[in-house]
Amino acid sequence: MPVTTFDLLLTDVHLATMRDANGFGVIRDGAVGISNGEIAWIGPARDLPRDIRAAWRRTCGGRWATPGLVDCHTHLVYAGNRAGEFERRLNGATYADIAQAGGGISATVRATRAASEDELAAESRGRLVAMAEHGTTTVEIKSGYGQDVAQEAKQLAVARRLGGECGVDVCTTLLAAHALPADYAGRADAYVDYVCATMIPAIAKAGLADAVDAFCESIGFSPAQTRRVFAAARAHGLPVKLHADQLTDQEGGALAAEFGALSADHLEHTNEAGVAAMARAGTVAVLLPGAYYALSDTHSPPVDALRRHGVPMAVATDCNPGTSPATSLPLMLNMACVLFRLTPDEALAGATKHAARALGLADRGMLAAGMRADIALWDVAEPAEIAYWIGGVRPAGVIRRGVPARWSA
Ligand code: NIG
Ligand code: FE
Repeated sequence: MPVTTFDLLLTDVHLATMRDANGFGVIRDGAVGISNGEIAWIGPARDLPRDIRAAWRRTCGGRWATPGLVDCHTHLVYAGNRAGEFERRLNGATYADIAQAGGGISATVRATRAASEDELAAESRGRLVAMAEHGTTTVEIKSGYGQDVAQEAKQLAVARRLGGECGVDVCTTLLAAHALPADYAGRADAYVDYVCATMIPAIAKAGLADAVDAFCESIGFSPAQTRRVFAAARAHGLPVKLHADQLTDQEGGALAAEFGALSADHLEHTNEAGVAAMARAGTVAVLLPGAYYALSDTHSPPVDALRRHGVPMAVATDCNPGTSPATSLPLMLNMACVLFRLTPDEALAGATKHAARALGLADRGMLAAGMRADIALWDVAEPAEIAYWIGGVRPAGVIRRGVPARWSA
C-alpha cells in the first residue's frame, strides 16, 4: 500500500475552490493536503488516500476555506493624509476641482517625496498589516507619488520591503504617469518624454516594477500620451494596466486592449466597444467600488456588458489617500455586490482568481492541485457570508505558501 505524505493536512473544512466558471466551486466536508507550499491533494475528505503521513494536521472546525485574497490594485505606499479633502468634497468640491487647485494626488506627492524610506515604510506598514488581517495574501502596490526616478524607486522599494516584513506577496507597478509634476506645468508631453526615455528604462533596469500603469483621464494623461507610455513599457518587456475611464470616457478600455493590458481598472464610463475589445484581448476589468463610493459616484461600470462579453471582473480596494482609504477586501466584496450588483460568487472570484489574472499570476486564486497553498479560513455558515457582512468579517486563519500564519482557528 503506497503511503501519501503531506507537510500539512487540513480536515473538517468546507471548500470554496473558485475553480469553476461560475459559482463558488463548493466541496463540502473536504480536505486539503499541502506539500512544498503547494496544494498536493484536494477533494471530499471521504476520497482521501488511505495511508497518509502528514507532518502536521489541522482540523478546521467546519470553517470555510477560500483562496487567499488577492488585492490587484492599490496605492498603499504613501505618506500623509487627505482627510481635509474629504471635508472639502462634502462641502461641494469635486475630486477634479481639488486636483486642479494643486491638491489631490499632488498633495500626496509632496508628503511622499518629503518622507525618508524608513518614514514611508512606517506610515504604510499598518495598512498592509490591516489588509493581511482581512485575508489578503497577495497585493499589488503602485508607485505614482514620486514623479522622478529616485522617488518612484523609493516607493517601489518600500513596497517590496513591506511585503517581506509583513508576510504578504507584493507585485509592484510603476505609475509614473499619474499626475503632472508641478515643474512640468503646461508641458505634459515633456514629462511623458521623461517617463518614456528615463523613468521606465531606469526602473526596468533596476527590476523594481512588475508592470506599468497610467492614469488616462481629463485630469491625468491623454490617450496619445498613454500610448507612448505603454509603447515604452512594451519595449522594456513590462506588461501594462490602465486607470481607464474613471471620470470620463477616454476610450480607455479599448486603449488598454490595444496593448494587451493585463487589466483596465475603474471603467465607470467605458463604452460597449471598449468592453468588446477587452474581451478579445483577454484584459481583466478591475472594479473599484471603494473609489466609486468615496466620490459619491453614480455612474456605475458597465457590469452587464462585461458579463455579456465574458470579461473577467476583478474587485480591489484601490487603497489610496484620496479616493479609497480602504484596506478590507471583504468590505469591497460587499460594496461590489450592493453598488455594482455583482453576485457574491462573482465578487469572491473577483478578489481571487480574476485578481490573480489581473496580475498575470497563474499559480494562485483557486484551490486546486498544483496551485500555491495560499488559503484563508472563514468562520461563516456559507461563502456568500464573506460578501454579506458590511466590513465585519475577518478570516479565522490564513495559510501562506503552506505555512499557517495569523491563525486563531
Ligand atoms: O485610483 N485615479 C487616480 N489614482 C487613484 C487616486 C489617487 C489619489 O487620489 O491619490 C485612484 O483613484
Ligand atoms: Fe487607483
